[in-house]
Amino acid sequence: MSSVAKFKPAADFVSKAHIKSLDEYQKLYDESIKNPDAFWTKKAEDLHWFKKWDKVVDFDFRKGEVKWFIGGKTNVSYNCLDRHVLAGHGAKTALIWEGNDPTESKTYTYAELLTEVKKCANVLKAHGIKKGDRVCLYMQMIPELAISMLACTRIGAIHSIVFGAFSSESLRDRINDSSCKMLITQDSGVRGVKQDIPMKINADAAVAECPSIEKILTVKRTGHKVDMQSGRDIYWHDEIAKVNDDCPAEEMDAEDPLYILYTSGSTGKPKGVLHTTGGYIVYASLTHKYVFDYHEGDVYWCTADIGWVTGHSYIVYGPMANRAITMMYEGVPNYPDYGRFWQIVEKHKVNIIYTAPTAIRALMKEGTSWPEKHDLSSLQLLGTVGEPIKEADWNWYNEIIGKKRCPIVDTWWQTETGGILITPLPGATATKPGSATLPFFGVQPVILDEQGNELEGEAQGLLAIKAPWPAMLRTVYGDHDRFMQTYFSRFPGYYFTGDGARRDEDGYYWITGRVDDMLNVSGHLIGTAEVEGAIGRTEGVAEAAVVDFPHEIKGQGIYAYVTMMTGVEADDATIKAINESVTKHIGPHAKPDKIQFTPALPKTRSGKIMRRILRKIAEGAVDQLGDTSTLADPTVVESLVSQRK
Ligand code: PRX
Repeated sequence: MSSVAKFKPAADFVSKAHIKSLDEYQKLYDESIKNPDAFWTKKAEDLHWFKKWDKVVDFDFRKGEVKWFIGGKTNVSYNCLDRHVLAGHGAKTALIWEGNDPTESKTYTYAELLTEVKKCANVLKAHGIKKGDRVCLYMQMIPELAISMLACTRIGAIHSIVFGAFSSESLRDRINDSSCKMLITQDSGVRGVKQDIPMKINADAAVAECPSIEKILTVKRTGHKVDMQSGRDIYWHDEIAKVNDDCPAEEMDAEDPLYILYTSGSTGKPKGVLHTTGGYIVYASLTHKYVFDYHEGDVYWCTADIGWVTGHSYIVYGPMANRAITMMYEGVPNYPDYGRFWQIVEKHKVNIIYTAPTAIRALMKEGTSWPEKHDLSSLQLLGTVGEPIKEADWNWYNEIIGKKRCPIVDTWWQTETGGILITPLPGATATKPGSATLPFFGVQPVILDEQGNELEGEAQGLLAIKAPWPAMLRTVYGDHDRFMQTYFSRFPGYYFTGDGARRDEDGYYWITGRVDDMLNVSGHLIGTAEVEGAIGRTEGVAEAAVVDFPHEIKGQGIYAYVTMMTGVEADDATIKAINESVTKHIGPHAKPDKIQFTPALPKTRSGKIMRRILRKIAEGAVDQLGDTSTLADPTVVESLVSQRK
């Protein structure tokens, strides 16, 4: 396949970029591969260490063992805050918080943030939280979320953030999986037109079945009344008023756990991806600096929610370790109108924006009048993450938002990778719309065939990584076997990503999507098994199979095929009940876009659902169903096609 036009970085961007040419990138990349010890030593030395490491890296993918900066002692909160304040930068802006309401915003300097974090850490300590304890954070995008994260890392507690749209059942399961001792939440949340998202109510429902939770710490965001259980429930503002701001950072081993973040699995329950301290912060900060070409004073805005990994690495940890001005937005792209993102860019003179193709598509659909109303001249660089970006969307981003002046970095990575692995460097890499281009320093991607042979040159196959990078996950919390099974067993000696990819004649990577039973809805992975399980719990439903189909805004939509129990008729109430069940067991973001009732699902004689056929029908490619002769009952296909939604 020939590749499309290349977009070269503009000369004025290049002149001030950290990495100014492909040659410079190549030289550094080669160094990082030939001599990782020297490369990472130099990079890690930019951070503060209480004690330097004895050895840079040790790994054996066949055993699932990875360690970085062995013997080193550091602290993430110290690196993100104290280091800057002690160096005289306390008065610089750290965080700009933009509320859901366009008239509401707040800024914190590094010194102010440090004070808040120390106080919060003292509250955690006062309530029995110690190094190694797990603390669950279930919040919307309010400053106290970032403060809580940094407070946990300050004292060595392991945070586990649960995205604020997850249901109480999802929250309960995540809390129980890692036996969290404390839950931090808020009374209720505001997001777009929603003015009272019942966070504490959900938290209470979850915790009723979480024996490990001793305390619920509640931030007052809306002031709406919530139940407070005596002995268990405490208010943030009451507790903060009781403590002082003296709280030294704990000396953490480089390999001590930093956080757990749950991500969907292709089978079974979500996996608690565990990230550790030293390697993670080195990699998050280095990628943030180079990928976004961050320079002192730049206003940087990652529009993700902190409930996902993008927010962990690229709203909080990476930017703050680089003493960046990082922005956090509470609302949604279309509130109060479709110009909100661009109004925020103008208001805060944002220089770098990092968002997802799904947001670009949603805004693009509304036409150019919204961005045209605002002054976007502060923008210098645009980023995307989460799913492949189509050429038309890339072009809109480039022309309408970036005015053809701003390089676009299409960054490929995963919850498990902790940081960006494949990406352009904006001053060095000519881009092609839809390609994440080249590996970051130290990253060795390979394309494998089904048998695990490495394919050279131009090739298409399965994407794996050959050697460790500092921010990779270390285990699945409490289930090391699953970690081995998921990432290291299919191709021994490699980290297997679960993605397909193509490499073109320039060595550029093009991610083709998941090769397992995962859906990528609006840039977030959801396991088909999870959704099927939730649908299956609806009364009267016998069985369900879920596949993706192309969706104009979400990228992939969810198409559910549902079989009812014999004698049960599906009607509108069934559809409502299915949606309620998915909302209850997972969250509203996992609701199916289309539901087709069918008397039977296409199965092989051994009983395996043939998803390939269901996917083709869902996407409307009914003339490409392929061989259906291995089905136990090939006539099923006809009725599936004729009843297609
Ligand atoms: O399939 C890839 C897709 O998102 C998956 C990872 O999802 P998650 O762990 O939720 O993390 C998302 C944010 C880092 C990947 O396996 N993906 C992510 N970025 C891209 C992408 N697909 C294509 N292009 C990207 N830039």
